[in-house]
Amino acid sequence: MGEIIDGKEIARQMRAELRREIQILSDERGVTPGLAVILVGTHPASQGYVRMKRKACADMGIHSFLHELPAETSEETLLALIETLNHQPAVHGILVQTPLPAHIYAQRILEAIAPDKDVDGFHPYNVGLLAVGAPLFRPCTPWGCLELLRSTGVDPAGQQAVVVGRSNIVGKPMALMLLAEHATVTLCHSHTTQLAERIAEADIVVAAIGRAEMIRGAWFKPGAVVIDVGQNRRADGSLCGDVAFAEALPRVAAITPVPGGVGPMTITMLLKNTVIGAGRCVT
Ligand code: GUN
Repeated sequence: MGEIIDGKEIARQMRAELRREIQILSDERGVTPGLAVILVGTHPASQGYVRMKRKACADMGIHSFLHELPAETSEETLLALIETLNHQPAVHGILVQTPLPAHIYAQRILEAIAPDKDVDGFHPYNVGLLAVGAPLFRPCTPWGCLELLRSTGVDPAGQQAVVVGRSNIVGKPMALMLLAEHATVTLCHSHTTQLAERIAEADIVVAAIGRAEMIRGAWFKPGAVVIDVGQNRRADGSLCGDVAFAEALPRVAAITPVPGGVGPMTITMLLKNTVIGAGRCVT
């Protein structure tokens, strides 16, 4: 039977360590990390994520500055706000919650955030630094996945890793991070043929396709380590990942559950990036 990777517990340990770093920043430099969160519109899931991010900041002693803007906010107004925050010394991280309303060109917004405050790691400059192996900020969800992988004791070096999903937020940066750890990486997506055969060769699988229980347990190589980023709803409304967990568990060495796997790590890595940003700032 495989090990169930306890994302909640690993996140708790990482946050305890971060608290110590925040205390040191405060004691030695008088700096309190600050995160600005911008929410445009009233997308219910986004409101929920933003609430969770702010609560996590409050629990850690990180200042959070919420900017809630109406859905009809113009691109220019949003750009002006980002420009202001780029120059505010108390703000070490800026996060624009996505998705944005359709009339706003999201790429232009991401490019307006100062790269040294880009705690999501989505600015093309930061994407480029990640690609050349010199990241300033690592995107939060794939970084959390890497930490979960590390917690199992598996070293990705020389391993076959299959990432399923090519989003800018998870799949692509995950592939780059595994490559930086010296894994041999295959990036699969919705057009990939023979997905089951590719997964069967993998020592490490990261699933981020957003399709409920699409990856079946019998596809895995015995002893593989599986990180499931999926957050899907079954027909009965219950939450599940991209992997058929109950089928996979007896076959694999370790697997993350949904919920309680990757979810708790994403915000933890955002907090860590904010602390890193604060640590780099010149006071
Ligand atoms: N929407 C879904 N995931 C994310 C994320 O990691 N960052 C931001 N800014 N928006 C998101």
